Amino acid sequence: MKATAIGPSNIAFIKYWGKKDENLRLPENGSISMNLSDLTTTTTVEFLQNLREDSVIIDGKAEKKKIERVSKQLDRVRKIAKFPYKAKVVSQNNFPSGTGLSSSASGLAALTLAASKSAGLNLSEKELSILARQGSGSACRSVPDGFVEWLEGNTSETSYAYSLYPENYWDILDIVVVVSHDKKDISSTGGQKIVATSSFYKVRLSNINKKIELCKKLLSEKNFPEFGKLIEAEALELHAIMLTSSPSLIYWLPGTIKIMKLVKKWRSEGLAVYFTVNTGQDVHLIIEGKNKEILLEKLQKVKEIKKVIVNTPALGARLINKHLF
Ligand code: DP6
Repeated sequence: MKATAIGPSNIAFIKYWGKKDENLRLPENGSISMNLSDLTTTTTVEFLQNLREDSVIIDGKAEKKKIERVSKQLDRVRKIAKFPYKAKVVSQNNFPSGTGLSSSASGLAALTLAASKSAGLNLSEKELSILARQGSGSACRSVPDGFVEWLEGNTSETSYAYSLYPENYWDILDIVVVVSHDKKDISSTGGQKIVATSSFYKVRLSNINKKIELCKKLLSEKNFPEFGKLIEAEALELHAIMLTSSPSLIYWLPGTIKIMKLVKKWRSEGLAVYFTVNTGQDVHLIIEGKNKEILLEKLQKVKEIKKVIVNTPALGARLINKHLF
């Protein structure tokens, strides 16, 4: 059976950075995120009895490393379905991959849902999240709807994401500011392997549970200024660890810093806007919906900006009827 799923990328407010089990992708800490409406991957999967190997096309290309990652995830599905069939996979991102916009989250969430459906499995949301996590940690958060918490867990069964609030809970936006189309030179998976080389990492872990609780409290109160302050400080802490890892990880480009500085300036002028950044150069601006136009107008005047993508909070991975082949 052919199945197609659409998976959203997500932006982490409290970040996942570091694994206590590399194979199972069990994180060192829990995290909190929001699914993004306009950064999505659509994936069609069909298991076929006469295929000799998996055939995988992503954004029109067959790249070896990506095929291996997809095949590994298909292996996990084959194991549960208890059959050996290879699959045809076609996947399309609606945004550039490899630049820090979390295509592994949207991609692995869409793949997991489409592949499990195509294999005839009817997995629960929790089972899908657990399975997606093993393909890419952050992908487990792209399975449930809206605002999401990934529970750290100590075993594969206890490390999964669930929805804290639906997508229409809070009218906030993630306006992604693309400052370069360059690919990042170290992947999230690679960067996380050296996390313990930063002497700040222990400090982070000693405070992280308190931070998660505070983030959840501010979300429940919809306290935007305090929430914004917290998530901006969290992003800077993540990058402090990246910068002090060995070898150092410098994901920012001049355009990244330009936007960060402007955000602080605009804030001092009264606009409640906050930034967060992942592994990459692009900046996610978090703002209340009512301030969208004011911010977009300001962004239009910044010449370093290549593209702006406006995201509302979104549903998690879901099946659709329009197949890619
Ligand atoms: C900085 O989920 O891409 O975006 O599990 O190795 O695939 P793997 O890593 P990945 O890491 C995401 C890191 C981050 C923070 C976050 O999204 O929580």
